[in-house]
Amino acid sequence: MESRSFHVQYSLVSVLLSLCIASIIAVSMICGHHFDRSVRISGAELYQYGPVSIPLVELRSKVIAASDHHLINSNANRSSHLHRHLHINELVNQTVLRKIPKPKASREQELEQGLARARASIRRAVWSPNRSSTFDDDVSFPGGSVVYRNPGAFYQSYLEMEKKFKVYVYTEGDPPMAHDGPCKDIYSIEGRFIHEMENGAVGRRFKTKSPKRAHVYFMPFSVTWMVKYLYKPFTYNLTPLRDFVADYVRVISSRHPFWNRTRGADHFMLGCHDWTPHASAGNQFLYNTSIRVLCNANTSEGFNPQKDVSLPEIYLYGGNVPSKLISPPPPQTPRPYLGFFAGGLHGPIRPILLAHWKTRDEDLRVYEYLPEGEDYASMMLKSRFCLCPSGHEVASPRIVEAIYAECVPVILSEHYALPFSDVLRWEAFSIRVEVSEIWRLKEVLMAVPEEKYRWLVENLRVVRRHFELNQPAKRFDVFHMILHSVWLRRINLRFA
Ligand SMILES: *[C@@H]1O[C@H](CO)[C@@H](O)[C@H](O)[C@H]1NC(C)=O
Ligand SMILES: *[C@@H]1O[C@H](CO)[C@@H](O)[C@H](O)[C@H]1NC(C)=O
Ligand SMILES: *[C@@H]1O[C@H](CO)[C@@H](O)[C@H](O)[C@H]1NC(C)=O
Ligand SMILES: *[C@@H]1O[C@H](CO)[C@@H](O)[C@H](O)[C@H]1NC(C)=O
Ligand SMILES: *[C@@H]1O[C@H](CO)[C@@H](O)[C@H](O)[C@H]1NC(C)=O
Ligand SMILES: *[C@@H]1O[C@H](CO)[C@@H](O)[C@H](O)[C@H]1NC(C)=O
Repeated sequence: MESRSFHVQYSLVSVLLSLCIASIIAVSMICGHHFDRSVRISGAELYQYGPVSIPLVELRSKVIAASDHHLINSNANRSSHLHRHLHINELVNQTVLRKIPKPKASREQELEQGLARARASIRRAVWSPNRSSTFDDDVSFPGGSVVYRNPGAFYQSYLEMEKKFKVYVYTEGDPPMAHDGPCKDIYSIEGRFIHEMENGAVGRRFKTKSPKRAHVYFMPFSVTWMVKYLYKPFTYNLTPLRDFVADYVRVISSRHPFWNRTRGADHFMLGCHDWTPHASAGNQFLYNTSIRVLCNANTSEGFNPQKDVSLPEIYLYGGNVPSKLISPPPPQTPRPYLGFFAGGLHGPIRPILLAHWKTRDEDLRVYEYLPEGEDYASMMLKSRFCLCPSGHEVASPRIVEAIYAECVPVILSEHYALPFSDVLRWEAFSIRVEVSEIWRLKEVLMAVPEEKYRWLVENLRVVRRHFELNQPAKRFDVFHMILHSVWLRRINLRFA
């Protein structure tokens, strides 16, 4: 008995895991025609999820073949189990069949059907390379902008999210470690999102009090506050963080039926602290199956772009964006410096940058400590390019600051899954320079033609709104983009 029920659960989990892989399809929809190229790039790779490992290309055809038709017609077909049952009756006794009340779709099935319709409508909205329409129903959306992988699919997906998406926020746990988080300094996005979801405009729109109506379940704990209250400094012992997370999952999975139903696949957590991935290892299913929204989106440290979400790091000094960055000067204002960086030596990349460029060059301003009398925001506003090397961890708040400052970000990182990159084309508003090219960084930046530079800056002005923290939150701002990333991963999860 014991082993049999284990087997059943195990196979349910492996089905879910393999369905979870379908998330690559989301990316394909959003990437639209870029998808074929991206498949070729990653075609050789194997994506591994527990027991299954399927080459990407094969996966794509399998998933599309297996699910689309079924899902779109799911009204007629409900579940294959049910269908088989009716089919047998039909052969045995037509009359009886007619008398069987039409099976009432359970709430779960209704939710899944709603998602299937959303998927279908997003798919219809995918722009083909030959089609060039505009969003005439919403002038504020920059239709056809090159900053989006597929503007049509993104816009439709966003609208579907607004129409349908419902999030249940668990009430378990006490502040400060749950229902609170930092709203200042480097990890502020963690507290700001939790508060926005619990009490803000995003919560009012997307939160549901009825967990049965929810598409996803949010576990509102703060890893930054765990580090503050549970971690003993200098011990490097992260067990208390993992224990907190393990406990949290244990409590919600024993009090509610939702976690066990999917082993956490429709649950999400969010954390900006560097140690969030370690804390999330407190529960293996949370780590491997749930949606983890992380600033530390290091793909070689377990971040999985198909199910996890890369969270932008936004440094709020004293709780606010520096006022100079809020209103950058008009685009024609001269920027005397080619590039700028100031920051500590930590992590694998900065020592290389500083070794080559620290206080070497009048145009490319690279400092470990900002000279007296200079301020950080003003330097960004005076520079054409802002260097954003990874530090201890891949994410850097400089990226969002550079976007605000309309200073083209130069991404110097390895294994970093950039925020919202399933929707945004980072190459349209940033420059990526390989670590091995840092020695000739000046040459690389000088070689960017003026016309391309203008184009990058123009695009920065378009994407800026997706990185803005508004109070109250506004459509398409960073809170909505984070939620949209979760939505995208959820609509690609299909239940057995
Ligand atoms: C309904 O489900 C059955 C069995 O899963 C499948 O063979 C059939 O094609 C489905 N019909 C529709 C209309 O999707
Ligand atoms: C079919 O169902 C009707 C009504 O329940 C019943 O009277 C009839 O005997 C059944 N026929 C067969 C062949 O089972
Ligand atoms: C796009 O247009 C080209 C040339 O007109 C054509 O060869 C191609 O098949 C079209 N692609 C699609 C997806 O319609
Ligand atoms: C979920 O599963 C766990 C362990 O497998 C069990 O202890 C718990 O009672 C289950 N929760 C519910 C609500 O059944
Ligand atoms: C989660 O993934 C890790 C590493 O890939 C693996 O060792 C572990 O068994 C997985 N856990 C579950 C529950 O699948
Ligand atoms: C990302 O993870 C890899 C593997 O653990 C590590 O070597 C690298 O230093 C990490 N990157 C950063 C910037 O921390």
